[in-house]
Order: sequence, then structure tokens, then C-alpha cells
Amino acid sequence: MNDSNPQQRIIRSFVRREGRLTDGQIRALEQLYPLYGVDWTDGPLDLNRLFVKPGPVVLDIGFGDGEALAAMAITHPEYNYLGLEVYRAGTGKLLRRIEADGISNLKVMLTDATEFLKAGVASASLAGVQLFFPDPWPKKRHHKRRMVQPEWLTMVADRLQPGGFLHMATDWAEYADWMLELTNQAPDFENPHRGFASNVTARPSSRFERRGLRKGHQVFDLILLRRAGTL
Ligand SMILES: C[S@@+](CC[C@H](N)C(=O)[O-])C[C@H]1O[C@@H](n2cnc3c(N)ncnc32)[C@H](O)[C@@H]1O
Repeated sequence: MNDSNPQQRIIRSFVRREGRLTDGQIRALEQLYPLYGVDWTDGPLDLNRLFVKPGPVVLDIGFGDGEALAAMAITHPEYNYLGLEVYRAGTGKLLRRIEADGISNLKVMLTDATEFLKAGVASASLAGVQLFFPDPWPKKRHHKRRMVQPEWLTMVADRLQPGGFLHMATDWAEYADWMLELTNQAPDFENPHRGFASNVTARPSSRFERRGLRKGHQVFDLILLRRAGTL
């Protein structure tokens, strides 16, 4: 699709505003991406072949600097994690962490997560999808850029195995309400917490979470399960 054609413009959840990369980040992308990164151009990818050991695969969308995702992969060796990001500096940072800590159940992909979910992930192939502190796009005219939309939820549900999870977190109260309202209307998901989940321990704290807390924001977690047999 051509971005410059207004009729066909893709509405993206991000704006590329990347400053200069450090030499270390450039080196990491050049030398470590071939080892711990995943290339994808089109068509469904065989996710199981990406990892050293077979295991249930969890997609982490927009890992930022990757600190929380690396911690999660280390504490959950029973899962294989594929982190998706468009931000190259953060990807370089996470590649260095994977190398330094020898994390074998974590791979990264520089890609637009929505495009990858659409064309690169087969139906019922994921054990989980996590979306932690996505860009909130607070202005009303930008709400269309939010990752969480009715059609996005339908697509995520299709890619999840029955019983698979979608875990989302945000410190933006109005986006949290938006997520709750849309997921309440999504027939493919059940919400075992009947609202926001409390006392969540499944997620290490991240830089964006701490920033929100410093500003006095409350953090909201939504954990949903893919119903069996609805699609
Ligand atoms: C606010 S940060 C949160 C980072 C991290 N999850 C955390 O909790 O610290 C949101 C991240 O999502 C990434 N992002 C936004 N849209 C994306 C997309 N379509 N595909 C992949 N990453 C995306 C941004 O580049 C950014 O790094």
C-alpha cells in the first residue's frame, strides 16, 4: 500500500522520530540481529523454528528498551518470547542484553506489530500476546492510532490458541477504560477478573510504568482469555 495515497493511507500506532543511534546500538544491530533477531517479509512464519527449545510462544508488542521483557524471559523459561518493536535504539539495547545474559528463549523482530500479526502469524498459533504501556494517543483526533481497536482484538483472538491470554497494561486511565469497553464487547475473549486485574505479579515493572507512577498515575492491567470455539 502507498502511504502517500490518502485513500489507502495506513493509520499507524507510531511515528518514527528516532534520533541518532549510538555506535554500540549500531554495532548491536549489525552483529547481534543476525543471531537473535528475526527477519520477516511476508507470509506466516513457523514460530517454533525460531527458538532453541520448542515451547509455547508469547508475542510482546512494543518492548521499548526491552528491560522488562528480558526479565520476564529469564523468569519464565517455560515460554518462548518474540518481542516486536519499531524503535531501533531499544532493539539494539535488548540485543545486547540477550547476548550478555545468554537468554535463549527470547528473539526480537524490528517490525510494525500490526502488520506482522496480520500477515506473519498463523491462526491459533500463540500462547499469549502482551501489550504493556502502549502509546496512549490521548488526543481525540489521534484515537484512531491506538493499537487497541475492535478489529485488532478480533485479529489477536484469531492468532491465539483457545485458552491463550491477552495481557494489556496502561497508566493512562482513559485508555484503560477504552480497552475495557472494547474487550467487554469482544465475544472471543472472556475476562476472568470481570474488570481490571488486581495484584498482578505476572509482569515485571518497566521504565514506562515507573514513569507513570512518578507522575501519580494509577496502573491498570487487563488479562483476558481466548474463548474456545468462537471464531
Ligand atoms: C510507551 S512504549 C512502552 C514500552 C514497554 N512496553 C514498556 O512497558 O516500557 C511503547 C512502545 O511501543 C512501540 N510501538 C508502537 N507501535 C508499534 C507497532 N505498531 N509495532 C511495534 N512496536 C510499536 C513504540 O516504539 C514504543 O517503544
